[in-house]
Amino acid sequence: MKRHTIKINFSREPSGYDIVIGDGLLSQCGEWARKCLGKHPGKIVIVSNPRVFGLYGKQTEKSLRSAGYHASHFLMKDGERHKTLRTAEAALKVFAEAKLSRTDAVVALGGGVVGDLAGFTSATHLRGIPYLQIPTTLLSMIDASVGGKTGVNTASGKNLIGAFHQPRGVLIDVSVLKTLPRRELTAGLCEAIKQGAVGGGKLLVRTGDLLSAWPIGEFSRNIRNPNFKFEISNLISAHVQFKARIVAGDPQESAARIDSRSRKILNFGHTFGHALEKVTNYKRFCHGEAVGYGILFAAELSKTLALCADKDVNLLYDVVHRAGTLPRMINIDASEIFQAMHADKKNLAGSLQMVLLKGIGRPVILTGHDVPQPALKKALKRFLQEMA
Ligand SMILES: NC(=O)c1ccc[n+]([C@@H]2O[C@H](COP(=O)([O-])OP(=O)(O)OC[C@H]3O[C@@H](n4cnc5c(N)ncnc54)[C@H](O)[C@@H]3O)[C@@H](O)[C@H]2O)c1
Ligand SMILES: [Zn+2]
Repeated sequence: MKRHTIKINFSREPSGYDIVIGDGLLSQCGEWARKCLGKHPGKIVIVSNPRVFGLYGKQTEKSLRSAGYHASHFLMKDGERHKTLRTAEAALKVFAEAKLSRTDAVVALGGGVVGDLAGFTSATHLRGIPYLQIPTTLLSMIDASVGGKTGVNTASGKNLIGAFHQPRGVLIDVSVLKTLPRRELTAGLCEAIKQGAVGGGKLLVRTGDLLSAWPIGEFSRNIRNPNFKFEISNLISAHVQFKARIVAGDPQESAARIDSRSRKILNFGHTFGHALEKVTNYKRFCHGEAVGYGILFAAELSKTLALCADKDVNLLYDVVHRAGTLPRMINIDASEIFQAMHADKKNLAGSLQMVLLKGIGRPVILTGHDVPQPALKKALKRFLQEMA
């Protein structure tokens, strides 16, 4: 079977680390952890949830133990609504009971929810201990596990409490995608399309080409095909390289930067996406699915403001369509979305900040003053009518 492992270094970051991508790497995670962490740490707490741990926990623990670690685990409840301070407190209690010291480590085994919580608790236990990321959803492989943003949700909003804390390494085993539910796959692909839209034509075309050659409807069969696993490893690698480049250039998402390479461009599709999640109480759409609609809305608005050409907007519709079916967007009120967009935490000093496109790979960050509010309202109304 073909195996392809790609290493990426954050060379300009003081805490550079490798991201290894390949097929079947999970069974060697103990050896990999030793390389990332060095000789010292003896104890590891795996943070996961019952679903992912039930599928991949034994294998992970076995490999860590055979590399000489004392491995135990903390399982959080599954789902975004459990990414809270209360769950973080329960995890921190387990770390304290396990007597994790600064030379021990945490391993996040799961999607972005687990990764964000494991990263946040690692950042706060003893003011920061090492952690490793083993992302198991497509979204967390290409996005959430890379870049060191960690956090939890509170009653005031999503990800409002957090810390920048870079992992010591990221291990991406594409074979775990075989158990990923179809909707989660589409959600991850939407984030990939977002990265392609702001990153450049090549990244978008590569993503679209993979979806044409290997249709999403046949994913569960394809993911057992070594050629497909090789190709999806390459695509994930391209996305990770893109994200790593942006993050290395703007590690803490500088508030003042609004240039086309600031970390903020990764929020393309997110102003509308977050608003859509919020007005539907985070129940109807997976995050990535909401971003899928967000991409299309940002593209439509860019066209309305005469920034972006028809052909680029059409390309985005086409690729989002290839990523799978999004849940229908019915009974959504334009004025509620408008309000939620203005309450988004990514806004600056109370003013709406939106990432739009001058074309594929040409993002532009506009503030509320640059986006005429009547045009925004009108575009929202039309978009919601057309998508219903
Ligand atoms: N830190 C960052 O930079 C960053 C970036 C993007 C998103 N995020 C965060 O990531 C979260 C979303 O992450 P997500 O989309 O991975 O969702 P998730 O972590 O909720 O995972 C989605 C579902 O898939 C299940 N699952 C995970 N891997 C599986 C596998 N291999 N097989 C079967 N089931 C599996 C999970 O148990 C869960 O039910 C959000 O909280 C978001 O805020 C963080
Ligand atoms: Zn996102």
